[in-house]
Amino acid sequence: MLDVKEIQTIEHDVLVVGAGGAGIRAAIECAKQGMNTGMISKSLLGKAHTVMAEGGMAAALGNVDSRDNWKIHFRDTMRGGKFLNQWRMAELHAKEAPDRVRELEDMGAVFDRTEDGLINQRNFGGHRYPRLAHVGDRTGLEMIRTLQDFCIHQGIAIHMECIALDVLKNNGKVSGLVAYWRETGRFVIFKAKAIIFATGGAGRAWSVTSNSWEYTGDGLAMAYRAGAELMDLEFTQFHPTGMIWPPSVKGILVTEGVRGEGGILLNNKNERFMFNYIPEKFASETADTIEEADRWLDGDKEARRPPELLTRDVVAKAIMNEVKEGRGSKNGGAYLDIASRQSAEHIKKKLPSMYHQFKELAEVDITADPMEVGPTLHYFMGGIKVDHETQSTNVPGLYACGECAAGLHGANRLGGNSLSDLLVFGKLSGDYASKYCQKNRLESTSEQEIENIIRNATDILNKEEGKNPFLIHENLQKIMNNHVGIVREEKELIEGIEKIETLKVDIQEVKAHPASQYNPGWNAAIDLSNIIIASEAVAKSALIREESRGGHTRLDYPDETKNGLEYNVIIKKGTDGKMETRKEMRSTPPEHLSKIAFSSLEELEENNE
Ligand code: FUM
Repeated sequence: MLDVKEIQTIEHDVLVVGAGGAGIRAAIECAKQGMNTGMISKSLLGKAHTVMAEGGMAAALGNVDSRDNWKIHFRDTMRGGKFLNQWRMAELHAKEAPDRVRELEDMGAVFDRTEDGLINQRNFGGHRYPRLAHVGDRTGLEMIRTLQDFCIHQGIAIHMECIALDVLKNNGKVSGLVAYWRETGRFVIFKAKAIIFATGGAGRAWSVTSNSWEYTGDGLAMAYRAGAELMDLEFTQFHPTGMIWPPSVKGILVTEGVRGEGGILLNNKNERFMFNYIPEKFASETADTIEEADRWLDGDKEARRPPELLTRDVVAKAIMNEVKEGRGSKNGGAYLDIASRQSAEHIKKKLPSMYHQFKELAEVDITADPMEVGPTLHYFMGGIKVDHETQSTNVPGLYACGECAAGLHGANRLGGNSLSDLLVFGKLSGDYASKYCQKNRLESTSEQEIENIIRNATDILNKEEGKNPFLIHENLQKIMNNHVGIVREEKELIEGIEKIETLKVDIQEVKAHPASQYNPGWNAAIDLSNIIIASEAVAKSALIREESRGGHTRLDYPDETKNGLEYNVIIKKGTDGKMETRKEMRSTPPEHLSKIAFSSLEELEENNE
């Protein structure tokens, strides 16, 4: 007999799920607003995908080029996102990022400095001016270090190695969440007025990914099961430069900071092939000769940016095409050369992690030889649908921020915009979740609902025979690689969706050995139930969007369409329990913002307020 009253119960006003940059920033805000705040982390505090944003956080501080301002950052973000971004979120982000960076510095972050002692900023793909505040190539790490050092003094209850299972609701509103401790396998009930999901993406659905084991779409799946809508999941970002050799390190990130510091991409004929892939709409801002690109590297402010700094979707597809046409590197990617561009001293100072990463993992000295790189699944642009001001979902009391929330990045995220996203929208979600708590009482929880969630989890342990969760996960990764990869088409997608359906049957039969303490099979089986939902949502969204835009490329619909800009793809759990997909018309962009997004740079610079 399961006696729910015997289960450990912890009460908070706000429970933040996820302890990366967005989660910690949200929790800090809730604590600041006087909320009794709890934060649960699937792994250890500070172990987050945030650290994989290595090259910097984008904010128009204008420290290195005073022509920069929020409008140009906003315009770059919209253009990078192929105008599918949520307009107001992109505005808030561009306007508030500089304050959030300065605030992080006040909390203790130690940024690289300019000669004048200001926060230094570097170039990155799609950003018109040097805009990324950075700490060598360890910016995400410094951000997490700072936030975690700060947050532990704010009276936040931090629950580590705690796996969230599902949201509890009463009267349609959030009332808490059921979880278990990885160490003991014991269940815990969190009662809360509001929950903020900051759970990241689901990169582990692909085998070549920069994401570590935690990224299994837990927040997406829990939100979906709780009745929240998901949006634009077809937009998955393949970062162009992951390690590709040796196989044991395939997918590990090679920061875009390498190209920001002047690194160039070469094919097996030693050609700087990116000059052949400059899209029409970026032509006026991109150098079309090596001479001009080199002048840019030498600091000529009138020179246009090298094509290696085009947006990630463009660079990833260019590398793929070089490989397809037989010009790929030895192990099926491209060469990334910084050695011939910068001194060894500069490389070791600005890219210390890359230097050590290649030396230790691939036996390559990047101050002497090129790296071998290829696309790696890095980021989800889509996620839980949120209100653009408050970060609330359609489930009262449920909020989302960071990578698991949709909207800011549209069809493609610019590098460096994730770290500023985490700070800006982490803060806003904490602010609005706290306001919600001030107006709402704690809802009661249902023992039956709790029991159902627990039984679902323990069923996996209570089988004589069953399927191996690790093998099912491997199958899923094959399906996503082959059917929902960097390029997609209808037939492949339909087959992929059918194969995911069979995995949904398989997970009903999944089994883990019966001990609940630190049971990797059990944890993997729980993760699977989430990542399969996230994968199905990506595949179905990709099928319905019949065009190519940003991180979503359809071979059968190779162009951006005018109509594609008019809708978002929404996923929702239907009343019959099946996944529903629909197109939702977007509202007309605010005039003042569309004017900025479609202005020329000259116009913006002239009208700089
Ligand atoms: O390449 C990088 O350093 C990654 C940055 C990001 O994803 O924002």
